[in-house]
Amino acid sequence: MTLWGGRFTTESNKFFKEFNSSLSFDYVLAKEDIFASIAWSKSLKENGILNQKEQNIIENALTSLLEDIQKNLKSILVSGSEDIHSWIETNLIQKIGILGKKLHTGRSRNDQITTDLKLWCKNQLSILLNSITKLQKIFVSIAESNHDVIMPGYTHLQRAQPITFSYWCLAYVEMLRRDSSRLKDIFKRLNISPLGSGAVSGTAWKIDRKKLALSMGFDSATRNSLDSVSDRDYVIELLSAASIGMIHLSRFSEDLIFFNSREADFIELSDSITSGSSLMPQKKNPDALELIRAKCGRVHGSLVSILIVLKALPLSYNKDMQEDKEGLFDSLKTWNDCLSMAGLVINNLTVNRVSCRKAAEKGYLNATEIADYLVQKGMPFREAHNISGQIVLRAIQEKKSLNDLELMIFQKYSQLIKKDIYKNITLESCLEKRSSQGGVAPSQVYLEIMKAKKRLNIL
Ligand code: ARG
Repeated sequence: MTLWGGRFTTESNKFFKEFNSSLSFDYVLAKEDIFASIAWSKSLKENGILNQKEQNIIENALTSLLEDIQKNLKSILVSGSEDIHSWIETNLIQKIGILGKKLHTGRSRNDQITTDLKLWCKNQLSILLNSITKLQKIFVSIAESNHDVIMPGYTHLQRAQPITFSYWCLAYVEMLRRDSSRLKDIFKRLNISPLGSGAVSGTAWKIDRKKLALSMGFDSATRNSLDSVSDRDYVIELLSAASIGMIHLSRFSEDLIFFNSREADFIELSDSITSGSSLMPQKKNPDALELIRAKCGRVHGSLVSILIVLKALPLSYNKDMQEDKEGLFDSLKTWNDCLSMAGLVINNLTVNRVSCRKAAEKGYLNATEIADYLVQKGMPFREAHNISGQIVLRAIQEKKSLNDLELMIFQKYSQLIKKDIYKNITLESCLEKRSSQGGVAPSQVYLEIMKAKKRLNIL
């Protein structure tokens, strides 16, 4: 049954009905639709459109409808309803008869859908915040147990300066922290109720919209109905946050795929999140990470898709906006799944501290230290940089590490260099010197771990 049959004289085309229907995906909003409908029925009662008894009957019927479907939401799908709003209204009418037909007074599916979607987004947002916190906690605990694992830090995928595995973990804690702050920021704009906006210009009934908003857990009610029913900024914002979050997870995946390669050999991924090759018996493939890396694509795709749907769309509601949901539903689930999978991966890997250190010892990662040493002795940095470059070149020619070069050789390049050069270029000294905020010095890393633990409530 449609909600709008009166004006029509012929039946809808069968294929059009299917094409037009959103039930196959918006059925997941059943709970939110019922919740908002109950709140709406209370407003109608306050307005005298329903009496107390009628409101009770409607509320009880909606509650029992929710109980009927909660165990198997997919049971909704067998109906031929146009969307979740029609489905609920039809079923309400089936339960309580003609009284059910009063519920839609003063309301439109235009304000209904955006209310439902906002309620759904609020719930997803808190699920995501939880998952982000969980993953941060895992990173912090792995950082704590690997504080002394020295490995190369890369720029341009070239060994650059020594870092620790711990420090690498904390980089992701920072990214996740921003992801979470982005979501909290979105929440402020999301938590405003559009219910009572009607189709486009507000509702003709004296509804206390503020009270209605608060009763549903929103902070306030929207201030212009033309905007309220057209606004999908929150969908764009959530998909942007998801896109950025997925970028972080894809970089995490890429880092670990490289660390896990036999070329780097810094870590070994657990059997439980890798798979084998059907042909090559020796293979252990980082499938979980590769999938996280790739799933970025569909999330970014959904962001681009909603941007294009909304671009130049005239005010206010247009059916185009029905296309806001599938990408959003899929992307937030994908993001959440990837956060959990990233946790599984990092929690179960083995760090190969010996090869991490070996790699940090090769590649002249301590070349900057020679320049800084000369600067300490009074040489301007540019000059010092040039001289340490020449020393590196010499070491490469001699196939030696900087630590193995004789003092005599160092002194050929600068008389300022003395025996204490050696203790200045150890990996430990490279780390320790970087002790200002944000640096890799173990004391700083320790401090950051402590701060993160306090913030995440894991002390
Ligand atoms: N299924 C629609 C959507 O997802 C609900 C709103 C329909 N409004 C309307 N006037 N046809 O956007």
